[in-house]
Parts: sequence; C-alpha cells; structure tokens
Amino acid sequence: MKVSVTTIDLHELDVDAVLIPVTQEARDELLERIGLDDDAVKVGAAQFTGAVDESVTLYVGSYQAKRVVLLGLGSEDAVALETLRNAAATGASTASRLKVETVSVVLPETELAPEAASQALVEGFLLGSYRFTRYKTTDANASHKVQRLVVHSSSHDKAARRGADRGRILAEAVSTARDLVNLSPNDKTPTLLGKEIERLGKKHGFEVSVWDKALIEEEQMGGLLAVNMGSIEPPTFTIMEWQPENAVNDRPIVLVGKGVVFDTGGLSLKPTKDSMDSMKSDMAGAAAVVGTMEAIAKLELPVYVVAMIPATDNRPGENAYVPGDVIRMHSGLTVEVLNTDAEGRMILADALSYASTYTPAVAIDLATLTGAAVVALGSAVAAVMTNEDEHAADRTAAMVLAGERSGDPVHPLPMHDHYADLLKSDVADLKNVGGREAGSITAGKFLERFTSYPWIHVDIAGPAFLKSARGYRQSGGTGFGVRLVVEYLRDFIARAQK
Ligand code: BES
Ligand code: ZN
Ligand code: ZN
Repeated sequence: MKVSVTTIDLHELDVDAVLIPVTQEARDELLERIGLDDDAVKVGAAQFTGAVDESVTLYVGSYQAKRVVLLGLGSEDAVALETLRNAAATGASTASRLKVETVSVVLPETELAPEAASQALVEGFLLGSYRFTRYKTTDANASHKVQRLVVHSSSHDKAARRGADRGRILAEAVSTARDLVNLSPNDKTPTLLGKEIERLGKKHGFEVSVWDKALIEEEQMGGLLAVNMGSIEPPTFTIMEWQPENAVNDRPIVLVGKGVVFDTGGLSLKPTKDSMDSMKSDMAGAAAVVGTMEAIAKLELPVYVVAMIPATDNRPGENAYVPGDVIRMHSGLTVEVLNTDAEGRMILADALSYASTYTPAVAIDLATLTGAAVVALGSAVAAVMTNEDEHAADRTAAMVLAGERSGDPVHPLPMHDHYADLLKSDVADLKNVGGREAGSITAGKFLERFTSYPWIHVDIAGPAFLKSARGYRQSGGTGFGVRLVVEYLRDFIARAQK
C-alpha cells in the first residue's frame, strides 16, 4: 500500500473515503464543522458518541470523497497510541467493506506527539488491512485492496510524514513476519526458510549466510543436532548482519530467534487439538527477528546488529532423541534431556553460546518457548527475563518501555537464583526441564547458563499466534516482537547519541 501525507483541505481531497478519529469531547464540534445537510445522515450521526470502537459512515455532499467515517477514540485523556492503532484498524475494515481504493485518515489533535500518532495510525491501518491469501484459490475478497493511504495533517505535516514513513516500514516488516508464521509447515523447511531469508536480505539490504548441516556439525551445535535427529529435513543456522558505517556501537546487538518450523513435541508427543495444531507458529521468534532485520535495514538505523536463527523441526522418528539422552552442547555443557518437547531451549542455547564469539553489547532472544508463559500472561503480553547483574533492572525497564510504546507489551518475570536449582541433574551438568513449577522461568534459567554477556529473553508463546482476531491483529501469526525490538533499538541509539 502506498502511504503519503497531505495538507490539502479535507473537503477537496480526491480520495474515496475520509476517516476521522474523534474523541467524545471533540465529537459535537466536529459534527458541526462537517455540517450535515441530509436528515437521514443526521440521524446516523446522532447515534455516534465517540466511544472507543464506535464507528459510523456518513455520506456528506460537501466532501469530494462523499464517504466520511467517524472513528471513536473515547475520552480525550485516555487516548493512547494503541487507541489510534485500533481505531485505524476499524477504519481499514470499513474501507474494505466499502471496497474503496484510496483513503485519507485525519491526524487528530491529542496530547500525543504528532510523529508517533501518525506512525500509529499508519501501523493500525496497514496491519488491520493485512490478509494472508497465499493458499486461497477461490476467495473473491482476496482481490480487493486499498491502494493508497493519505495521512491528513494541516499543522504538523513534517512530523506526520516521518511518522507515516516509519509506520509503513514497520507494518511491512510485521507483515513479513506474519507471512512466515502463516506459511504451511511443508513450505518452510529449515532449508526453504534459509532461502527465503537470503531473498529478503538481498531485497532489503542486509547480509545473510545460511549454514548447512555439515557446518553445524563442524561447529558442534549438539543441541540443534539432537532436536533434528528425528527429522528427515536437515537443520540450518542462518546468520544475518546489518553493520552501517554510522553505527553507534562497536560490539553488536545480537538477536536470536527460535526457528522450530514445526513442533510435534518429538517422542514426548503433543496432543493435536489446541496444542500441536498451532505449532507451525513455533518459528515466530525467527520470523520476528527476520522482520526486525527488514525494518532496521529499510529505516537505515545506525546500529550494528547480528541476528541468528537455529532452525529445525521437532519430530519423532527412528533416530529421534529420547528422554534420558545426554547431549553435549555447543558450549561444552552437558544436558540431560528429560522431555523432548523442551526443544526450543536446546537450539537457542547453542545459538546463545555461539553468540559469545561476537562479544555482544547485549543479546536478545525471541522464542515461543513455554506454554507456562501463556498460562501466566495470556495472549496479549510476552514475558521478559534477563540475567541478574547490576544492570538487570535497566535492561528490563528499557524493554518494558519499548513494549508500551510499540504496542507489543512485555511483562517481567523474576530470575532469582533458586529457580536454577530446579534444573539440577543427577547425571549431567543440567537437565532440560524443571518440572511443573515456574515453567517459563526455569526455561529462562536454562538459557542463562549459556550466556556470558548482557542478555534479554522474550517468551512470545502467548502473543505470537492468535486463535481469533483482536484489534489490528488477525487470527494466525501476529508478527509480535518486530515493533518491540525496533523500538528497543531506537531507544538504544538515542541513548548512545546523547
Ligand atoms: N513450542 C512449545 C511452547 C508453546 C506452547 C508455544 C504453546 C506456543 C504455545 C515448546 O517447545 C514446548 O513444548 N514447551 C513445553 C516445555 C515443557 C516440556 C517443559 C511446554 O511449555 O509445555
Ligand atoms: Zn516443544
Ligand atoms: Zn517448541
């Protein structure tokens, strides 16, 4: 979708529909300004109060667009960026119902900074318009798409343009991540995923190298190889790099994404219903990392980033790893596997230990790691953990703030040392499961054993994949994490430039 900004008088705008987000307080004045001439339209407008989620389509003769869609923002002191994203998504549904091709959305006057508000409107509209149609052969609606979105701002056009451009780039990157998650498992084997990342790297301008099984063996990534044993598809390990000349950091920020392209649980097999049936999403961390690389390259962020994706499926098979196997990991530590379904930590541990060769400023992993995170926080919020050093609170605070600003919220879990006791093994250095208690935290403590630098773990098992749509997120892959990490990086850059 094309996105632009205009200052042209709303009445004269040559678009098919105009969206006007409005608070309850501003509702009366707006209706007066629009000046309704038709009695039927007046009746329609009378029912609109400006409450959140309310919307009404009016036909106004004095507008060249004719169709004017009012979008309720609720009370003016409660308007947040997320309110604007959701209102814009409601506008996108209306636009799709009206089958219009060009839409203008008015930047409302609120307490929010105009640049961030413009970004939020574009994100909400574009992400709300997202549809995954790759496998639909007979869907008539699949062909209709809004072609152009025009942000209208009479007094803040420069800020609106910066925000709109960033919003578009972020929404496109989130859509890339959503597409990868929504792909059928047989279309995203580790090899095909590596190829797709190579293509995206060429398209957007970041470096990609894809390791094959031989290289992974040479590097002795025992965790990744163990999980892959039951599979007929070889694993891959993909490394992406973005290193602009004006980077604010010498030591890279390392991103790691869990790339389990399908998680059956292995021999510790998952039940199908409400469990294995959504496990094509077990590479959502990898998808978010790829989307993030796309965004930072297109935004040309001045930050040095290296990203890694260990990829395999997790299946039972003749040669599959079994409960009781002791695995020598890339770091040299030995792990007693007591549940083959705790595979994510096995492959992430190897990536995190390999990451130390870069001496990262900080490493951030994104992973659909534990069902316990879904139980604790539900499907809107991800869990965040970090190693307990003197900067732990700052790292967590930075990630929580990035979550609030970006629309990808995260909540911290404690990482007290006693949780590590639950991973003690009789035969190896540690075991891969901690038991029923504190399942997300013991997974975090497991990963921590393989880090030797500042590190942040984001368990996205809840928000990565939705059974039913919510706001600007459709059912299926949400692309959660892309906007979170980009916002974290923007904040990292701003601090470094101070
Ligand atoms: N991929 C799953 C976690 C998951 C569950 C993601 C639900 C998204 C939605 C992970 O590999 C897994 O199976 N974890 C186990 C760990 C357990 C065996 C310690 C779990 O959470 O049950
Ligand atoms: Zn699993
Ligand atoms: Zn998994």
